[in-house]
Amino acid sequence: MGFSPLSLSQSLSFIMFLFHFHSTISSSHFCAPDQSLSLLQFKESFSINSSASGRCHHPKTESWKEGTGCCLWDGVSCDMKTGHVTALDLSCSMLYGTLHSNSTLFSLHHLQKLDLSDNDFNNSHISPRFGQFSNLTLLNLNSSVFAGQVPSEISHLSKLVSLDLSGNYDPSLEPISFAKLVRNLTELRELDLSRVNMSLVAPNSLTNLSSSLSSLSLWGCGLQGKFPGNIFLLPKLESLDMSYNNRLTGSFPSSNLSNVLSSLDLSNTRISVYLENDLISNLKSLEYMYLRNSNIIRSDLAPLGNLTQLILLDFSSNNFIGEIPSSLGNLVQLRYLKLDSNKFMGQIPDSLGSLLNLRTLSLYGNLFNGTIPSFLFALPSLQYLDLHNNNLIGNISELQHDSLVYLDLSNNHLHGPIPSSIFKQENLEVLILASNSKLTGEISSSICKLRFLRLLDLSNNSLSGSTPLCLGNFSNMLSVLHLGMNNLQGTIPSIFSKNNSLEYLNLNGNELEGKIPPSIISCTLLEVLDLGNNKIEDTFPYFLETLPKLQILVLKSNKLQGFVKGPTTYNSFSKLQIFDISDNNFSESLPTGYFNSLEAMMTWIKK
Ligand SMILES: *[C@@H]1O[C@H](CO)[C@@H](O)[C@H](O)[C@H]1NC(C)=O
Ligand SMILES: *[C@@H]1O[C@H](CO)[C@@H](O)[C@H](O)[C@H]1NC(C)=O
Ligand SMILES: *[C@@H]1O[C@H](CO)[C@@H](O)[C@H](O)[C@H]1NC(C)=O
Ligand SMILES: *[C@@H]1O[C@H](CO)[C@@H](O)[C@H](O)[C@H]1NC(C)=O
Ligand SMILES: *[C@@H]1O[C@H](CO)[C@@H](O)[C@H](O)[C@H]1NC(C)=O
Ligand SMILES: *[C@@H]1O[C@H](CO)[C@@H](O)[C@H](O)[C@H]1NC(C)=O
Ligand SMILES: *[C@@H]1O[C@H](CO)[C@@H](O)[C@H](O)[C@H]1NC(C)=O
Ligand SMILES: *[C@@H]1O[C@H](CO)[C@@H](O)[C@H](O)[C@H]1NC(C)=O
Ligand SMILES: *[C@@H]1O[C@H](CO)[C@@H](O)[C@H](O)[C@H]1NC(C)=O
Ligand SMILES: *[C@@H]1O[C@H](CO)[C@@H](O)[C@H](O)[C@H]1NC(C)=O
Ligand SMILES: *[C@@H]1O[C@H](CO)[C@@H](O)[C@H](O)[C@H]1NC(C)=O
Ligand SMILES: *[C@@H]1O[C@H](CO)[C@@H](O)[C@H](O)[C@H]1NC(C)=O
Repeated sequence: MGFSPLSLSQSLSFIMFLFHFHSTISSSHFCAPDQSLSLLQFKESFSINSSASGRCHHPKTESWKEGTGCCLWDGVSCDMKTGHVTALDLSCSMLYGTLHSNSTLFSLHHLQKLDLSDNDFNNSHISPRFGQFSNLTLLNLNSSVFAGQVPSEISHLSKLVSLDLSGNYDPSLEPISFAKLVRNLTELRELDLSRVNMSLVAPNSLTNLSSSLSSLSLWGCGLQGKFPGNIFLLPKLESLDMSYNNRLTGSFPSSNLSNVLSSLDLSNTRISVYLENDLISNLKSLEYMYLRNSNIIRSDLAPLGNLTQLILLDFSSNNFIGEIPSSLGNLVQLRYLKLDSNKFMGQIPDSLGSLLNLRTLSLYGNLFNGTIPSFLFALPSLQYLDLHNNNLIGNISELQHDSLVYLDLSNNHLHGPIPSSIFKQENLEVLILASNSKLTGEISSSICKLRFLRLLDLSNNSLSGSTPLCLGNFSNMLSVLHLGMNNLQGTIPSIFSKNNSLEYLNLNGNELEGKIPPSIISCTLLEVLDLGNNKIEDTFPYFLETLPKLQILVLKSNKLQGFVKGPTTYNSFSKLQIFDISDNNFSESLPTGYFNSLEAMMTWIKK
């Protein structure tokens, strides 16, 4: 064969080709062709569907195109030398469809990390072929709609450091598979099997998990039997979540506790916790302690004051009877303190005033009496304060800061005016001061400066003066406005802005006069409108017929008059279930015309 000399342009392009080829190999552009093909076939087997991902949305496979180096594709990482795909991160990729055992995913043998979390695999079974990824160190199938049995082949993945099968549709894990997993996955540091059905697995077998384990999350696994106290012999265990296993019994151990544990969640279990002095001293590094709705037996909480690293203490719904120990004032790192729904009594102790880092204080549903200590209103970072359902008396002091987002003081015996500083809480979203009977004074129109207010409930007090007229159009976020059962006078706010979010409007039981403002029809999301027990003088407000979501309309005991002739429009009151216009001066007492069209109400009556 002769040697044909290349023309200048030919040799140039040959050199360019060589140069290009060389640079492709030496940079990360190179991708083994079989890997590229497997990925593209994998891509083709799913649709992109925005409801398939919940937490975040990155449709990574959309950037995958034939003829481009797969190592540059979104979510793909390769070994530079071999061009093998070694990591695939397809979290939040909006993938929807079934992941079959014959998927080309399983030909990516060299994977070391695989994250398929937050997609919708439509109740696929977890294929036994996952067990073939022999070099896998990370496997994350969190919240991806997998179901069925977890295959025992998962135990072949002996290099796994992190395994997350949580948040799926109660796939089940057989005791024999779990035993193999415990025996073989000796490198595990993070294990999350939350919502995997482990009801047949003996809790005791957890104690043989990898001694490297630092995080174990098993909420809602249906575990039953005795809490495996020896789990704390795992020397590196920092985080343990066994909440929502309500058949888990036994008691929390009082010795052999881990001194590296920083987060403990035993909420909604039936594990008894005895708060002994030394137990606590064993948990020196604990930062997060969730013991909501569990069995706490020891009636003295004073030892909790030893956990000086605590950032969060949730002790709610425990039927605890007694006082808050003053030692809780030692927990100066606390940001979240929840002691609600117990039987705490006596005064809210002054010692809590030293918790200057508190952001959340939830003490509702107890038997606290005495006044609300003014130090609470001086805590510099307090955002969430809930003291409802107690026996608190006295007035509400002025707030010293403007950090509040949520304030609920309802169902107490507070009296006096609403302090003006409440209206300076620029970020306030929820304000509930209802059912104190004795809150007096006027509702300042500065309330309308609270632009982020979603819920305002001042009902069942003795507030007087006029209803601030700005209430109809100051915050487009407001969805609940309840000022019922007060002594308010004057007229109903007449301007309701377009695009408002009101779902509930209740002014029942005041002394309001005048007419029902037609601009209420701007409240297209309104479900409840209660203007009963006032002094409104008007004719029947036909314009309300078009409110598309109205379910409850109460206009009773006013001075409404005239003839109620029945529907004036097609689709009149299409969702209405309760309709009360009794005790007015209407010339016909039953607008029978409405009853024919009130289908929703009829359905409701038949129930
Ligand atoms: C999108 O996914 C949801 C479930 O996440 C499914 O119900 C729906 O049918 C899917 N839509 C399409 C077009 O596939
Ligand atoms: C989702 O699963 C259902 C029920 O098994 C099946 O009928 C449907 O075809 C599946 N959809 C997809 C996209 O895999
Ligand atoms: C993979 O398996 C599924 C279910 O067994 C089947 O419907 C599909 O055709 C198979 N796909 C290929 C490429 O063989
Ligand atoms: C797994 O890792 C080992 C050691 O790094 C390596 O020799 C082997 O080729 C890898 N196996 C696969 C299938 O990538
Ligand atoms: C698992 O998914 C849930 C819901 O999408 C999310 O709240 C949680 O943070 C995820 N866990 C991890 C470890 O990513
Ligand atoms: C344990 O892992 C090795 C690979 O490291 C595997 O060959 C063996 O089958 C596994 N054993 C079990 C019980 O899964
Ligand atoms: C968990 O598995 C047990 C035993 O197989 C079964 O009785 C139970 O209904 C399952 N629970 C759920 C939530 O699927
Ligand atoms: C834990 O492992 C040891 C040694 O392999 C074994 O003797 C013991 O029975 C195991 N315990 C449990 C509860 O599985
Ligand atoms: C604490 O652990 C040791 C072994 O590490 C064991 O002998 C002892 O019985 C354990 N104590 C309790 C109360 O479980
Ligand atoms: C723990 O708290 C109790 C009660 O407050 C106290 O008597 C005990 O000395 C404290 N223990 C330690 C180690 O601080
Ligand atoms: C608060 O309650 C305690 C007992 O529960 C009682 O001794 C005390 O007198 C009460 N204080 C006030 C101010 O009502
Ligand atoms: C609340 O009461 C205290 C004393 O009982 C009084 O000094 C204070 O001015 C009152 N605050 C308001 C806002 O009425």
